[in-house]
Amino acid sequence: MNKLAVIGTGYVGLVTGICLASCGHHVTCMDVDESKIDQISRGDLPLFEPGLQELHETCTAAGSLSYTTSPEEAVQDAEAVFIAVGTPPRKDGSADLSYLYAAVHDIAPFIQRNTVLIIKSTVPAGTHADIKDQLDRTTGQSVQVVSNPEFLREGSAVNDFFYGDRIVIGSTDSRAAAFVEHIYESLPGPVLHTDPQTAEMIKYSSNAFLAAKISFINEMASLCEAEGADITIVAAGMGMDKRIGESFLRAGIGYGGSCFPKDTAALLYSAQQKKLPVPLLSSIHEVNRKQPGAFIQKILDRFGSIEGKKAAVLGLTFKPNTDDLRQSPSRDVINLLTSEGAMVIGYDPLISKSRKRIWQIPLAETMEEALTGADLAVICTEWKEIVDFPPDRYPSLMKEANIFDGRNCYAIKQALHLPIYYSSVGRPVYNGL
Ligand code: NAD
Ligand code: UGA
Repeated sequence: MNKLAVIGTGYVGLVTGICLASCGHHVTCMDVDESKIDQISRGDLPLFEPGLQELHETCTAAGSLSYTTSPEEAVQDAEAVFIAVGTPPRKDGSADLSYLYAAVHDIAPFIQRNTVLIIKSTVPAGTHADIKDQLDRTTGQSVQVVSNPEFLREGSAVNDFFYGDRIVIGSTDSRAAAFVEHIYESLPGPVLHTDPQTAEMIKYSSNAFLAAKISFINEMASLCEAEGADITIVAAGMGMDKRIGESFLRAGIGYGGSCFPKDTAALLYSAQQKKLPVPLLSSIHEVNRKQPGAFIQKILDRFGSIEGKKAAVLGLTFKPNTDDLRQSPSRDVINLLTSEGAMVIGYDPLISKSRKRIWQIPLAETMEEALTGADLAVICTEWKEIVDFPPDRYPSLMKEANIFDGRNCYAIKQALHLPIYYSSVGRPVYNGL
């Protein structure tokens, strides 16, 4: 058991802190946001992640997990300090590292001689060296700074922590690297040791590659629509080739979230700063940016005009099983529908539980309520509740069952013989009206 601190209690920090405590470590999580720490201390987590609340309760009851707003309290006895603050995009695409530097500044006075600083936040290659310079200057000692990027996905973050595909440890100091490996020793994932700048690049390259897979399949989906082919079967056929792999080939209205858009932009910015041409990288985002508009065009092609039509938007979060709305494609879809004059009502299995309005549109309490009297249904997130909703229920609720499925929730054969118009992504349109 080690004494650890985690700075930043967002999606990554909170999951990391709680999961490390459940591995047997003694963890103090620290955040500058007092309301967040108050809320967590009352036992109510500020974010939804399956399985996290239960682990939090077990670890706090066991006394292995505590929360504070004080950098001193968190860091003074810690053998290792994980930094998991946000690195959001600036307007020019570069990563805003101000939260990271502020956090390092705040904890520097309490760093002990052997404390290892572990960077979990996603940062451009070379950032570890700047952080080390800052720490060495302010502490007057040589602080070990290790890059340990995080690969968890929201919605399955707890599982990803325990069963991640790999643990990357970037360090120039073998003792610090061995210590970080020891912290994770109860996890089965393979460990890759490397230098810090390579670790930082592994993180960005992985996200860029996953985003590229999505943009690639979305481009193929447009071709499938033109050729009358079915992208879901094309993707399955491609995925049977082990060199390609079946994951991240789900066509749809594009990727969102706080990471793919920002990390591809940050990587692009770094390349531009170094005057390196990266045409492939720049087109990943370009393809993605056009997905919501192309999807809305299908709606306009069907209706001509959607002025005054009631549109039920189903699913608001950027993916299922999370409450995260950051950069959700549903927002672009809603803005486009609204700008075309549609009357939009939203429904999300999680967001509708706590809010009545979002992004200037009302929210229904149930999927049935959203669909009642609607001229069109627009599916933006493949929540299980939406996937499990029987397609034959749409006609009984809607004024006319025009379903535009941005996540390919239903098999085409589920639509066959139903009085519905069913348009999805990269598959033939079914018109049973
Ligand atoms: P987040 O916005 O959910 O949380 C960041 C937290 O840091 C906030 O609670 C904020 O109050 C806190 N914070 C800011 N400044 C601080 C300071 N000086 N001291 C203490 N706390 C401070 O962010 P996130 O989604 O958890 O992402 C964190 C980092 O991890 C980012 O670099 C992100 O790219 C990376 N990452 C995120 C995910 C993900 O799925 N969200 C996955 C892998 C990596
Ligand atoms: C992603 C990566 O998967 C994580 O490995 C990484 O740690 C994280 O970013 C990060 O760096 O923050 P996350 O954004 O939580 O995780 O969720 P994903 O499951 O990757 O989905 C991202 C977006 O891509 C969602 O909008 C999703 O709908 C979309 N997507 C995903 C597709 O459109 N098609 C797919 O086949 C897969």
